[in-house]
Amino acid sequence: MPSALPIGDPAPEDGSLPPSVRDGALERRFGVYLHVPFCRVRCGYCDFNTYTAEELRGTRREDFAGHAIAETRFACGVLERAGLPARPASTVFFGGGTPTLLPVDDLARMLAAVRDAFGLAADAEVTTEANPDSIDLAGLERLREAGFTRVSFGMQSAVPHVLSVLERTHDPGRVPLVVEWARRAGLAVSVDLIYGAPGESLGDWRASLEQAIALEPDHVSAYALIVEEGTRLAARIRRGELAAPDDDLQADMYELADERLGAAGYEWYEVSNWSRGPAHRARHNLAYWTGEDWWGVGPGAHSHVGGVRWWNVKHPAAYAQRVAAGVSPAAAREALDTETRRREHVLLRSRIAEGVPVGLLDEDRRTAVAGLIADGLVDGPAAIAGSVVLTRRGRLLADAVVRALIA
Ligand SMILES: C[S@@+](CC[C@H](N)C(=O)[O-])C[C@H]1O[C@@H](n2cnc3c(N)ncnc32)[C@H](O)[C@@H]1O
Ligand code: SF4
Repeated sequence: MPSALPIGDPAPEDGSLPPSVRDGALERRFGVYLHVPFCRVRCGYCDFNTYTAEELRGTRREDFAGHAIAETRFACGVLERAGLPARPASTVFFGGGTPTLLPVDDLARMLAAVRDAFGLAADAEVTTEANPDSIDLAGLERLREAGFTRVSFGMQSAVPHVLSVLERTHDPGRVPLVVEWARRAGLAVSVDLIYGAPGESLGDWRASLEQAIALEPDHVSAYALIVEEGTRLAARIRRGELAAPDDDLQADMYELADERLGAAGYEWYEVSNWSRGPAHRARHNLAYWTGEDWWGVGPGAHSHVGGVRWWNVKHPAAYAQRVAAGVSPAAAREALDTETRRREHVLLRSRIAEGVPVGLLDEDRRTAVAGLIADGLVDGPAAIAGSVVLTRRGRLLADAVVRALIA
């Protein structure tokens, strides 16, 4: 079951933005996120805004690309009317859901619409997420021809009993194949892993890490399993069929990931993300953490432009109706004041390797940094050089450290 949207202020039907969004716009990059809300089956742990064929009522998968293209054109009009300077998209990210459940031609048409509306920067990063069983070599080659540069595979684990408890349906033996095909097609490759599933031992996690490293991807994301309310996983844990994830074991798993990935030449650049050097960082995700502008196309997608953020209606049928009627699909929005924006910058930047510029902290919080250094949570030399950067222990306790920085 997808989770609920936040509550905000009413969003205007014409999508119009206040003049303040122009301030500093040329210093911010622009990206586009396209949310494809379809999956073949729902994994037991997942509360993303996604629908299986049986759950989808009132609209059809076949019509989705047309609706997303209509919103992309609508977005172009809104940004122009707001007086924003034309900025080509520096990153485009197709996420989901499972974007590769759509025919590649649909993905290519949606990307072409982004190119027509905004232009693509010469070095644009264009990513799609893909499940290992939802794409083949010909599909990957056609994605590359259409202008995609990168693919992110949901590997999650290499261990059958872990995949089974996560209710993942792909054959782990297919992951090396799709990674090899993606590389042959000329795409950069990322893999997503999840650790801390019920019944997963440290040895299981080591095996998944080693197999992921052996694939030589350009980028690895490793997420601690979150038990989301309303999922089948949460119900099974509540009924006592499965054990809840153990915080201490998840902490050991994080440390092991950082050690093994580091030794294999991957640098952490965000709490859950490692890459083979700065050139392979996921620039699209970095844009979220550094407060750039992006438009989120699709049901439930979130957008941020110059301190105004909004989120679309969640159900694909409600979304399709709004877009077809030529009105904004936004459910609500909020304009962030200067203090809220500052706190958000601290919150998001504390997760990345560049850290939080000390100047973003208020006076009291600067004093608190000394204590965080003494506790081994913040890197001392980096703080003296002007940035609050989390140590590995600090990343493990990231939520608590962030609370101390914005309290
Ligand atoms: C939209 S999904 C990725 C694409 C594709 N649908 C898939 O699952 O392979 C994004 C990633 O979020 C992570 N994720 C989803 N639900 C999660 C949860 N409850 N806890 C931790 N990670 C989660 C998974 O690693 C997943 O690959
Ligand atoms: S395939 Fe991905 S988006 Fe779909 S249910 Fe599974 S984790 Fe969620």
